[in-house]
Amino acid sequence: MEKYKLPNLPYGYKDLEPYMSEEVLTLHHTKHHKAYVESANALLDKIKDARDKNSELDFKSVLKSFSFNVAGHILHEIFWKIMAPAEASAGKPNGELAKMIEKEFGSFERFKTEFSETAKSVEGSGWAVLALHKEHGNLNIIQIEKHNVNFYPEQKIILCLDVWEHAYYLDYKNDRAKFIENWWNIVNWEEVESRFKST
Ligand SMILES: [Fe+2]
Repeated sequence: MEKYKLPNLPYGYKDLEPYMSEEVLTLHHTKHHKAYVESANALLDKIKDARDKNSELDFKSVLKSFSFNVAGHILHEIFWKIMAPAEASAGKPNGELAKMIEKEFGSFERFKTEFSETAKSVEGSGWAVLALHKEHGNLNIIQIEKHNVNFYPEQKIILCLDVWEHAYYLDYKNDRAKFIENWWNIVNWEEVESRFKST
């Protein structure tokens, strides 16, 4: 079985400052994301071991935990890619994605409001996600609880925002709204556009 790997960040730990501090980004990547990768791999070993020995496995508990950890890993992989230092961020999408957002949401500002409100209102830990339905071609905003609850099939994630406390608490304390407002400055719209087109 192919193991999951912790990817390198496409920028330095200080590069998203002042919107995301070096301390938060370092802990987030080297502790939190790493833990999801390690847990997913440990579960893969557990599944393989049970297969090899043809022994029993508590599928309900193992697969529930696997879903949580793999989804955590995948979402973080995307999250690192769709951010960039503020000076490299275009501030908003252009080209086909901009047109699609205008068509679906009426305006970029309306999209931003809906996405921000989705992120703000996550109960406990979770994510706001913009996804493209692979068959219908429409854009959906999805509010994920934890890493894997409320997500549904056939969705290609093109933008995601982590609103677990580990993503902002050291920088913003309990002011999640301020974190979300600042985060828009470090969105890598070129990468989001490229994910949109590659579907
Ligand atoms: Fe996270």
